[in-house]
Amino acid sequence: MYNYANTPAENLEYIEIAPASELPSGERLFVDIEDKTIVVFNIAGQFYAILDVCSHDDGPVGEGDLTGYNITCPRHGAEFDVRTGKVMQMPAVIDIPAYPVRVVDGNIQVGIPKST
Ligand code: FES
Repeated sequence: MYNYANTPAENLEYIEIAPASELPSGERLFVDIEDKTIVVFNIAGQFYAILDVCSHDDGPVGEGDLTGYNITCPRHGAEFDVRTGKVMQMPAVIDIPAYPVRVVDGNIQVGIPKST
């Protein structure tokens, strides 16, 4: 598991997912990119993206409640920081992937590591 937020741009492929106007503050959007489901959040005008798979037991973490930047997995209550994917609360002990997000010409793009 890995935080891709600091991955050099040349090692990422940015995928356009939606107009920024379709994801207002406080909302989230689930998108399928390649074989992954990724959830993108707008928190106070900033966008963040994590993999929608909990590292504890593969729960749908993206459906959980958001408190500040922490999302709580609905299955057993593990918490992760959506900015980094860092685990904040047991029972999970492993971080989940977090992806960089940018807005280009009004469209949200998520940076996915290029497959090698
Ligand atoms: S599957 Fe997420 S806390 Fe168990």
